Amino acid sequence: MYRDREDATKKGNLDILYKKIIKEIPKNRYVMCLDGKHVRTYKRLNPVVKKMFIPEIEDYYKDMKQKVDNKKCVIKNCTLSHMIDRYNHAQKCNIIYADYTGCITGNKSKETFPLDDIKKFLHKTRENKIICALTFCLRNRTGRKDINIDVEEEYFHYFLEPMIKSEKFEILEYNPQIYNREKGTNMIFIILVLVKNNKIDNSKIDYYLDEDGERVGYPIQQ
Ligand SMILES: C[S@@+](CC[C@H](N)C(=O)[O-])C[C@H]1O[C@@H](n2cnc3c(N)ncnc32)[C@H](O)[C@@H]1O
Repeated sequence: MYRDREDATKKGNLDILYKKIIKEIPKNRYVMCLDGKHVRTYKRLNPVVKKMFIPEIEDYYKDMKQKVDNKKCVIKNCTLSHMIDRYNHAQKCNIIYADYTGCITGNKSKETFPLDDIKKFLHKTRENKIICALTFCLRNRTGRKDINIDVEEEYFHYFLEPMIKSEKFEILEYNPQIYNREKGTNMIFIILVLVKNNKIDNSKIDYYLDEDGERVGYPIQQ
């Protein structure tokens, strides 16, 4: 279970996201995000957004509901993926903060797949300009030795860029920051500014191929 403690890096990340939102999305800001027991993301962003949608898999979602203005913030006991699938909230969202602690390639036992969630979100939203913030840990879960996944750039080229382009979004800005968690795991916080471009040709996306001509990275081969 996620231990929601006061954390200077998380606070710093939220400050960066806050400033980016103000700069890039002038009005009608709708956010979908992962928060924690103490709803720190809600508290920071609520003053400048119209509405927030928060899925939470843990039981403390009940405590979270007590701490927010329920007219402005919808909290559901479900996964991010289910929230995108089952409800129409994602259609009007122009900001997503997928603040994960695990790997980008996901965790089968916990049924969390960050890359798939972002893809689903981009597929569902009807907004043209999107701020997409995400955190995950930098660990190679592909099982392939030919990818040095500790390198942030390769995460971008192998996973994020092809997935985003496959949903016909152009990447206007990509700001990654690597930081270290207490236990020593390297984490990455990324802010992307995306804009819809229906002219993107899916057949021209640069998927990365290994020496046998097989795709590496995205889509993830399970
Ligand atoms: C790292 S915390 C978010 C922290 C928060 N953004 C902050 O700045 O303090 C992630 C939260 O999302 C929940 N969570 C993780 N994966 C999820 C998923 N796939 N769907 C819904 N909730 C999830 C965790 O239980 C946890 O409460």
